[in-house]
Amino acid sequence: MSIKSATLTAACLLALAACGGESPPPAEDTAAPAATPTGPDAAEAPAASAPAPAAPAAEPPTGPASAGGDKPAAVVTDCATTIEGTDGMQFSVGSIAIPASCTEFTITLNHIGQMPEAAMGHNVVVTATSDMQAVAADGLGAGAESEYVKPDDERVIAHTEMIGGGETTSVTFPVSDLQGGGPYSFFCSFPGHLALMQGSIEVEQ
Ligand code: CO
Repeated sequence: MSIKSATLTAACLLALAACGGESPPPAEDTAAPAATPTGPDAAEAPAASAPAPAAPAAEPPTGPASAGGDKPAAVVTDCATTIEGTDGMQFSVGSIAIPASCTEFTITLNHIGQMPEAAMGHNVVVTATSDMQAVAADGLGAGAESEYVKPDDERVIAHTEMIGGGETTSVTFPVSDLQGGGPYSFFCSFPGHLALMQGSIEVEQ
């Protein structure tokens, strides 16, 4: 710390005080600078003092490579796999590799949490990765009565029911549907879950 930074801090406080009657807390309140990113000093101060809190909605859902990330691959047996969904808004696996010898494949989803479907619903939706965002957005528009999957959405290769804690569901689809040029992803279409609940799915070469 130096006199210069102390002066900057004082300037920030003054700037914040001058800017807004809506947020009286001092600079220590990390919410204040985020809400009023009006000056370069105000933006620098919180970044240096404290990392931004985890914000799932702000994570760039760029694709399965980043989302599946550190999670294990699904265990596949007899052209089927079982994955888990949790109350922590997570799938247990980050990727699913389908043996090329399979003609059909079954994904079973176990919701191992306890929260009800309305609060922590999970499903598995399979689409081309390039369609994922738009399918999720249209699912959101379709609403809870459609279990957040737009009816007859041709971009949806397969999807399970939406389930709550303690429930299980599954879906079976032709493997050839994933051989039209990928990459493909699986994700949960419950509102807000896409960023954290997605992974890659592909047919092995
Ligand atoms: Co979910």
